Amino acid sequence: MKKLKVGIIGTGGIACACHIPGYLSIPDQCEIKWLCDIKPKALDEALLLAPGAKTTADYRDLLADPEVDAVSVATPNRVHMDPTIDALRAGKHVLCEKPLAMDRHEAKKMCRAAKESGKILQVGLQMRFGGAARFMKDYIDAGHMGDIYYARAQALRRRGVPSWGVFIDREQQGGGPLIDIGVHIMDLTLHLMGYPKPVSASGKTWDTLGKNPDLVNFWGPYDHSKFTVEDMAVGLVRFENGAAVTLESSFMANIKEEFFRTELFGTKSGALVKGAGSEPIEIYSETDKQLFDCVPRNIPEVVSSHIAEVQEFVKAVHSGALSPVPGENGLVLNAIFDALYKSAETGKDELIDVAY
Ligand SMILES: NC(=O)c1ccc[n+]([C@@H]2O[C@H](COP(=O)([O-])OP(=O)(O)OC[C@H]3O[C@@H](n4cnc5c(N)ncnc54)[C@H](O)[C@@H]3O)[C@@H](O)[C@H]2O)c1
Repeated sequence: MKKLKVGIIGTGGIACACHIPGYLSIPDQCEIKWLCDIKPKALDEALLLAPGAKTTADYRDLLADPEVDAVSVATPNRVHMDPTIDALRAGKHVLCEKPLAMDRHEAKKMCRAAKESGKILQVGLQMRFGGAARFMKDYIDAGHMGDIYYARAQALRRRGVPSWGVFIDREQQGGGPLIDIGVHIMDLTLHLMGYPKPVSASGKTWDTLGKNPDLVNFWGPYDHSKFTVEDMAVGLVRFENGAAVTLESSFMANIKEEFFRTELFGTKSGALVKGAGSEPIEIYSETDKQLFDCVPRNIPEVVSSHIAEVQEFVKAVHSGALSPVPGENGLVLNAIFDALYKSAETGKDELIDVAY
């Protein structure tokens, strides 16, 4: 097997914690040829992990290298679209971090570029590669839950505003907890529901807690005057097949417990799927008029869903398979968030547009 030559665009937190270790975990299948970041310090730190890689501050240098087969785009959200489209047009496969884009308009352009190039565009939504997600997907596909007609998705932090990067800057990120962490639990939920087509959404956002400098934050100090995103968002999304999902997402909220989980309501059974923990799944069912609460005990072990995500990307490139997390899924999520943010402004249910 010819080793893939890979470039990393944006060598900050997620690149060093996940993308680079992911590629390094399969040295027989790929090698990191280029590292790109506009900050020399970020490049230096990444070079410690991938010594020998070429470095540049301009991603076009690595796209011009005909040996490069694939790239990871791990820059802030505002810098997802251009490198992704340029890479696809240069004939490279792309693993782009979540959310796919700032909004649906960007996401559509990225999906079009992927289609025209015939290359893989994978969105960095790793939750579906975890053991709980794999088990649940098989369980649902085997018909054990019947039709899933409702889900309650929650990504709720009590005092968890990210103090690094640009996560509190709407101009750079496109939004706050909804687009940053809601994206993960919404993707898991929709993946398990078979990605039904969304039609409309109603949402509400708040920012009072996030802007309040008197409140403690467990994720480090941040400049409250620069907090331009919501601290919490809630919404109801309706789907063409009659299903609905409610989503709650917060960086800050006065709650007892932090949740990262989704609850699926099916016609045959229900399930609670948690993002972590020793018992990540509970299943609720009825047989012969008796009600059962079950905890599966043979969930596949996945040490790191992040590493698994990168391995799946490399595998798909090598085998010519379809994208393990297609750009179209990222577009659906961006379109849902656009509608929720718009609805928070208008106070009305907003239509969701995913055509591209
Ligand atoms: N999948 C996940 O669980 C997960 C977790 C964290 C972050 N993310 C996503 O990863 C992305 C980056 O987040 P992060 O936490 O690594 O942020 P970060 O700020 O630590 O890293 C981003 C890096 O991109 C660099 N950069 C900015 N513009 C650039 C450009 N034009 N060319 C090259 N490099 C550029 C920055 O200098 C920085 O080093 C975001 O989209 C975020 O949503 C995903």
